[in-house]
Amino acid sequence: MRTTELGQLTVSRLCLGAMHMGGDTPTDEAYRILDRFRDAGGTFIDTADVYGDGTSERVLAPWLARHRDDVVIATKVRWRTSDPAGEGLSPDRIRAACDASLRRLGVDTIDLYQVHGPDPTTPIEDTLAALDGLVRAGKVRALGASNFPAWLLAWSVATQDREGWAPFVSLQPQYSLVERSAELELLPFCRAAGLGVLPWGPLGAGFLTGRYRRDTMPDGRITRAPASLEEAAHRRATERNFRVVDELTALAATLDRPVPQLALAWLLGEPGVTAPIIGPRTLTQLDDLLPAPDIDLDDQHRARLAEPAPPPEVSPHRMLREQMSLPDIPALSRR
Ligand SMILES: NC(=O)c1ccc[n+]([C@@H]2O[C@H](COP(=O)([O-])OP(=O)(O)OC[C@H]3O[C@@H](n4cnc5c(N)ncnc54)[C@H](OP(=O)(O)O)[C@@H]3O)[C@@H](O)[C@H]2O)c1
Repeated sequence: MRTTELGQLTVSRLCLGAMHMGGDTPTDEAYRILDRFRDAGGTFIDTADVYGDGTSERVLAPWLARHRDDVVIATKVRWRTSDPAGEGLSPDRIRAACDASLRRLGVDTIDLYQVHGPDPTTPIEDTLAALDGLVRAGKVRALGASNFPAWLLAWSVATQDREGWAPFVSLQPQYSLVERSAELELLPFCRAAGLGVLPWGPLGAGFLTGRYRRDTMPDGRITRAPASLEEAAHRRATERNFRVVDELTALAATLDRPVPQLALAWLLGEPGVTAPIIGPRTLTQLDDLLPAPDIDLDDQHRARLAEPAPPPEVSPHRMLREQMSLPDIPALSRR
């Protein structure tokens, strides 16, 4: 599998998400998935302390004991867990949560430690200083953020730079052909500031596999999701999104490739995207996805897939583009 750079880390261009491991994916199947991913050249695994309240990290531990030097392991802190009890990004909690993740994973160092979302109750400077302390203590090699709005990410990166603290090297945003808000602010900032981008939900939780249809919505993540979740059917199963699937299905027939491979290939071709985080629940689903980094879609095919569900239109971007003829705000120069 192709690889790329993420800060000082080298990672495969697909990252394997472990969110279901020990839950919807039974442990035996999880190990088969991990082995197959590694055999295919995959070297990047993403988990979080909150996945199964520590279960995902615990399932990974025995496998990591055998393959620690082969992979880059990423985990996260922020949401509520029982060990340590509580939630948030206060310095004490970050330190306790990092120790708990190290213990559950059975490793000496976490390669990429990510804050899983903002914590409005803790001053961001306190969080960033605590994260820097983890890097200095050798518990963590690199830092990342997830689900940060662009202004907070920019503020954080500027603060880390000013204070000489260990920097965020990556952002983990939701990003797929049916959720492209990240293109407005987050991706341009990450490209300009040199942060890698690790899209979560790259298949829209399974919508971009073609198995959900206008007339039949089979059992799956989307039909089971409560209305509050990003992948809930009322958000995913829209006419606009089905038109993306129509384009994917037609292109899949032309190129003789499975639909989800093309959805991943589109993401992999977006400038600044480091590695989509795939979330196969079964070995069969993984096999379907693994060849995606080998596909180079041409501009015409990319445009076809992107046409039905563009990013939302917002001001000032629309005004700058339509009234001021500044179509490419991301390319504005900076010294
Ligand atoms: N930072 C965050 O806030 C955040 C949030 C969510 C996820 N993540 C990370 O991102 C990873 C991936 O997220 P995701 O699970 O939402 O990604 P996704 O790739 O958009 O969706 C995965 C789902 O798609 C379906 N699927 C996958 N491969 C398939 C195939 N070949 N054929 C048919 N269906 C297929 C499965 O649905 P069924 O189970 O219905 O079969 C699977 O659960 C997670 O494991 C986690 O590491 C991070």
